[in-house]
Amino acid sequence: MEFDIAIIGGGPAGYTAAERASENGLKTILFEKKEVGGVCLNEGCIPTKTLLYSAKLLDHIKGSAKYGILADNNPGFDLGKIIGRKNKTVKKLVLGVKSRLTGNGVTIVQGEAHISGEESNNILIHCGENNYRVKNLLLCTGSETVIPPIKGFSDIDYWTSREALDIKELPQSLAIIGGGVIGMEFASFFNSMGVKVKVIEMLPEILGNMDKEASAMLRSEYNKKGIEFFLNTKVTEVSPGKITVEKDGQISDIDAEKILVSVGRKAVTNGLGLETLNVELYPKGVKVNEYMQTSHPNVYASGDITGFSMLAHTAYREAEVAIHHILGIEDRMSYNAIPAVVYTNPEVASVGKTEEELIASGQNYRVRKIPMTYSGRYMAENEGGAGLCKLLTDDTDRIIGCHLVGNPASEIIVTAGIAVEKGYTTEEFEKSIFPHPTVGEVIHESLYI
Ligand code: NAI
Repeated sequence: MEFDIAIIGGGPAGYTAAERASENGLKTILFEKKEVGGVCLNEGCIPTKTLLYSAKLLDHIKGSAKYGILADNNPGFDLGKIIGRKNKTVKKLVLGVKSRLTGNGVTIVQGEAHISGEESNNILIHCGENNYRVKNLLLCTGSETVIPPIKGFSDIDYWTSREALDIKELPQSLAIIGGGVIGMEFASFFNSMGVKVKVIEMLPEILGNMDKEASAMLRSEYNKKGIEFFLNTKVTEVSPGKITVEKDGQISDIDAEKILVSVGRKAVTNGLGLETLNVELYPKGVKVNEYMQTSHPNVYASGDITGFSMLAHTAYREAEVAIHHILGIEDRMSYNAIPAVVYTNPEVASVGKTEEELIASGQNYRVRKIPMTYSGRYMAENEGGAGLCKLLTDDTDRIIGCHLVGNPASEIIVTAGIAVEKGYTTEEFEKSIFPHPTVGEVIHESLYI
């Protein structure tokens, strides 16, 4: 069987690419060994946000008295229903993606595809009993959870983000190893559900590369809500109900009924047959240029497999760039203005440079910083809430970064993202009219500081 393009992996990168390729007239085949939608739809972005919405609702009810609403002091929840709703949401979205693909003429093959080399300018792929010859190949195999080489892991029953989405009952206490994005989103969910949460992070602050002030603010909010943080703390051994850690050379134990591991994800490149095409790898994944082209001119890669940003929205764009290059449409990938969001309550969102990056690179910058309470709408809807809007500009007054803490940071960060991507100066951005009253106005307000 012959195709213009084969795509291996049906996550955000793969399904976006398949749709774009097919609607632009390329004969397209997509291989997926599990479910179309990938980690994002099946066990990542969407299921976590569905669970986090239930948790947020519970938080709202618990805090309703602040708004003059007298609800039950001790609202309950049905964990089975929460998980069931998550499953239903995922199923509907997966079906939606599948029908869009088939509607666009994409051939979907359920199975594990392998590359077996090339012959007369065609790349050879096999899947099950069938062989395929394709002109172009796009690798979208994504990433998988890193299990750290810590003593005792193979002997205990622990959760990764996948298992934590399908629990039947809540533990009394949960230790989360790794205070990155996944760690903090699950910390938020389980904290809202009444579980005693302990976050163990080996670095001095949670949330890795996010703005340190925003990360510290989120940590302080969750400290108040009862989460215990162990920073600068390295896990050295695990055993049932116990995590042995080292801090400043001192060894101690942390107790928890359950352990969740969230120390990062790594690109999936093994077992695909990339060596048959001499596709070059680098330590984080498959090496690509700004057209998402690998070292082989007809092989492209998009999404987590490139090891750059590991975000679904980056994957969508990378996929589009790859297909445009195959179609001969001028387009290049830019990583300048990719928003990052942590869907805790409050949310944290960020785009562009952080102060830490600018200090490290020696670049001059100016900070414009205001509390979220500058926004009337924020005040109306977030009684007693902490929040931050920090805008960074360069020597020419161009907007180069924005960092937010407060709801709905995830929805309003895109405004600043556009300013960063387009290179707007504060004067140019001031001319944009923001609707009033909205929380997003806080970004506009910060321009006048
Ligand atoms: P991460 O890289 O964000 O965080 C892992 C954390 O674990 C780091 O802070 C690291 O210092 C810490 N760590 C590593 N080894 C440790 C050890 N032995 N003991 C204690 N701490 C240790 O990785 P995470 O949270 O697993 O997320 C993986 C990827 O998924 C990220 O690239 C993230 O961007 C993406 N993701 C994005 C989401 C979003 O956009 N909202 C949601 C979930 C995941």
